[in-house]
Amino acid sequence: MARSRTLGINVIDLFAGPGGLGEGFASFANEVGRRPFCIRMSVEKEASAHATLTLRAFLRQFLEKGFPPEYEAYRGGEISREALYAAWPREAVSAYAETLERPVELGRDNTLIRRRLRKILAETESDPWVVIGGPPCQAYSLVGRSRNRGKRGYRPENDERNFLYREYLGILARVQPEVFVMENVRGILSARVHGERIFGRILEDLEHPGEAVHATGARGLEYRIHSFVVDKPPTELEWEDYLIRAEQFGVPQSRHRVILLGIRSDIELQPRVLERSDAVDVRDVIAGLPSIRSRISRGGDSPGAWEYAIRECVRECRGCVSADVYHVMIEKERELDGELPIKASDYPWVEPTLGGGIPSRLRAWLAGQSNRLDGHVARSHMPSDLARYFFAACWAAARDGISPRSDEYPAFLAPDHANWESGKFADRFRVQAWNRPSSTITSHIAKDGHYFIHPDPAQCRSLTPREAARLQTFPDDYHFEGGRTRQYQQIGNAVPPWLARQIAEIVYGILG
Ligand SMILES: C[S@@+](CC[C@H](N)C(=O)[O-])C[C@H]1O[C@@H](n2cnc3c(N)ncnc32)[C@H](O)[C@@H]1O
Repeated sequence: MARSRTLGINVIDLFAGPGGLGEGFASFANEVGRRPFCIRMSVEKEASAHATLTLRAFLRQFLEKGFPPEYEAYRGGEISREALYAAWPREAVSAYAETLERPVELGRDNTLIRRRLRKILAETESDPWVVIGGPPCQAYSLVGRSRNRGKRGYRPENDERNFLYREYLGILARVQPEVFVMENVRGILSARVHGERIFGRILEDLEHPGEAVHATGARGLEYRIHSFVVDKPPTELEWEDYLIRAEQFGVPQSRHRVILLGIRSDIELQPRVLERSDAVDVRDVIAGLPSIRSRISRGGDSPGAWEYAIRECVRECRGCVSADVYHVMIEKERELDGELPIKASDYPWVEPTLGGGIPSRLRAWLAGQSNRLDGHVARSHMPSDLARYFFAACWAAARDGISPRSDEYPAFLAPDHANWESGKFADRFRVQAWNRPSSTITSHIAKDGHYFIHPDPAQCRSLTPREAARLQTFPDDYHFEGGRTRQYQQIGNAVPPWLARQIAEIVYGILG
């Protein structure tokens, strides 16, 4: 087949999740407004994330001409996904081609991946390639490691997830891209296999992927592994230099991840590093969203039952919490007099509102192209958690955003947990402070919302998927497929697209 130029930079997104990293590349526009990066293949095994990726790949084809009205109808629940795709069949086919038609598992479905690779590599001639994405991190992550330690007979060297990065190396050896970007959790820097820290070996493998996977056609393939934040040649870098603190780059979230920039050794260039920007805080990105109260999960939800749970909490706290916190509680309780100021979470579809404090470029980014947004729906909580959330948020309001430690809760709010009184559970319940970037949005948010309590005591709830998505800097027009748990998982797993966009700009500086 004749190979032709596509006039773009080809991107392969591996372990793509909902496409946070890919979104940064696909949406980056250069100085003349052209989008140079073209995602040619994304690989993702989880069905909902795959559906999210496909929908976004579909939508991206409308960036210039404006999103089709059917998209809004789909997000509003008025038409099915099949009807959306049937209205735009050509775009749907192209989106599915990009995401390989179905969820695909690297390591298992390699024949399908190889077939697609052969096709896309044959279609382009001299255009550069970029491989992005990071192998899954459970085995490296600190939480994962402490959990694994408790598993009988667990040996990290037998955990295949530790070696999924070999699949990544295999694709590097095959595609031989000019650049790769590999993301992982901070724990990769200290993870050990056979008692040895594996990060050094991972770096060596990434420097010589052909040799690492014994690919004869890629023996001489070499990469230099640069940092996105420390402007030094690779030989002078410390491992910690690969750590990116997202909050230093305009993301309203403290998120620390290892992100490696591999540049093929024939490209002799020291890339520039990310430029720091002012901190953006929680208030900036979520305060403008409609206030919604939580619902009650057991015993039936009603405005009366909700109000009763709060009033009972205030009553029980009298005399057993300090005056400054109690003062906030009383003030909040007073707001309940008369009609309840906020409704239950029945806002699947609302007008987007962005706070005045957001820097203008980030504002335009978050607003996206839609004038409605979805996913602003709170989960339900047990009345006991409702009271804990109310107490914790009032405490944080009185104490500059600091959450109470477990030994600072009144006894009646103690959960049924053996070690609660030790005071060690400083973090069991965490209120996200208005005036700081949030803590890391993780996929854990799908399990319980205790770490992600909304700072407004009157709302008494954990963050909605849309709030989590805003803290992760997904544009408001980004739709996450699947039920709420799946949505939270996808959002928590992603690279913040706003950070990804800045990373894409650096890669463009190398190849553009
Ligand atoms: C940390 S997330 C990736 C996030 C993504 N880079 C983003 O920015 O949105 C890792 C993803 O890898 C997927 N995954 C794990 N093992 C996989 C495999 N063997 N093949 C394909 N996908 C896999 C998981 O389902 C998960 O969505």
